[in-house]
Amino acid sequence: MTANKIAVAVLGATGAVGVRFVQLLSQHPLFHLAALTASDRSEGKRYAEAAHWVVEGEMPREVRELPLLPTDPEAVRRFAPEVRAVFSALPNESAAQAEPAFAQAGMLVFSNASHHRMMPDVPLLIPEVNADHLALLHHQRRARGWSGGIICNTNCTVSGPAMALRPLYDAFGIRRVFCVSLQAISGAGYPGVPALDITDNVLPFIKNEEEKLEAEARKLLGRLENGVVREADFGLSAHCNRVPVADGHLVTMSVETAQPVTPEEAAQLMRTFCRPELAGLPTAPEQPIIVREEADRPQPRRDRLSGAPVGGMSVVVGRVRREPLFGERGLKFVTLAHNTIRGAAGGSMLNAELAWRAGLIS
Ligand SMILES: NC(=O)c1ccc[n+]([C@@H]2O[C@H](COP(=O)([O-])OP(=O)(O)OC[C@H]3O[C@@H](n4cnc5c(N)ncnc54)[C@H](OP(=O)(O)O)[C@@H]3O)[C@@H](O)[C@H]2O)c1
Repeated sequence: MTANKIAVAVLGATGAVGVRFVQLLSQHPLFHLAALTASDRSEGKRYAEAAHWVVEGEMPREVRELPLLPTDPEAVRRFAPEVRAVFSALPNESAAQAEPAFAQAGMLVFSNASHHRMMPDVPLLIPEVNADHLALLHHQRRARGWSGGIICNTNCTVSGPAMALRPLYDAFGIRRVFCVSLQAISGAGYPGVPALDITDNVLPFIKNEEEKLEAEARKLLGRLENGVVREADFGLSAHCNRVPVADGHLVTMSVETAQPVTPEEAAQLMRTFCRPELAGLPTAPEQPIIVREEADRPQPRRDRLSGAPVGGMSVVVGRVRREPLFGERGLKFVTLAHNTIRGAAGGSMLNAELAWRAGLIS
């Protein structure tokens, strides 16, 4: 079964994003999970002993006995010499050290950490939004002398807004965006926010989150010209809050477009948004944006696993209506994206599938 698949490893496999990678890889038609790493606290333990399996369903049988390796390219190569790519669910500080070491050792690194995201030669990708930015990898390899490379996933909160803004930006232009996030507990990793802080409460501060959302949205929607990303030219202001929801980040948005637009036109554009070039990739959603008509949707508990073939890969948009502050150029709507699927492991998986189709992993 695994003979024709590409061998991959997960770095930081025991945390909130790591276990999601393991879950999504267990049935993957292209990739075979060959090695797992974690911190020195878990090194040498069996995966079943050390992993925080906070996702739906049972841990796949084939990973239960796998040993946790040190997060080091030599250790991964010794255990599984056939590994070509790694999915990184490392915290920022360890990603800053480890990810370049794997890239230098010839592996493609699909990162979830923020450390490399805004570096000019690093693709920050959502395939439906800016697949062409993958070309930055060639510049990165040339500049750094790596045969592997680093390709980043976005911050989990920006994935919903960026996807919804893409078709609007292309059709009507955007002047200003004002948004408020209601972010799930799993966004803080395992064990995340203490129960006594978040139960019956809302935390109106998430360190560095507003800055990341504002900067990453402009890079994602920017244009790649001669090997340089020209950032999108609109202003974005974000307020980020942690709420007592397990998974799924909701973001309420007010958008001023450059050209007049009706809410009906905007909803239709988002509903029909698709990227034919991604068709057939195993994790690509059939409908990237699902627009709900009901007055009280999307809701995290009911809608976060929307989409097919992989539940949680579609962004759900609702309450598309007029923003009276911006007149005929004003829109208000809500986005919902599953933070550990669309905003993390599933997003990275789609990035890897895009790289595979481009001939960058074989
Ligand atoms: N959670 C989300 O929704 C989300 C979404 C997008 C991006 N991200 C980003 O994805 C990354 C992982 O997030 P998470 O939520 O999965 O965090 P987490 O639950 O804290 O998991 C961190 C993982 O990294 C390992 N680790 C910690 N320190 C290490 C070190 N010094 N060397 C090697 N491994 C180490 C941990 O292993 P041990 O079990 O051995 O400690 C664990 O496997 C972070 O960069 C985060 O910002 C998270």
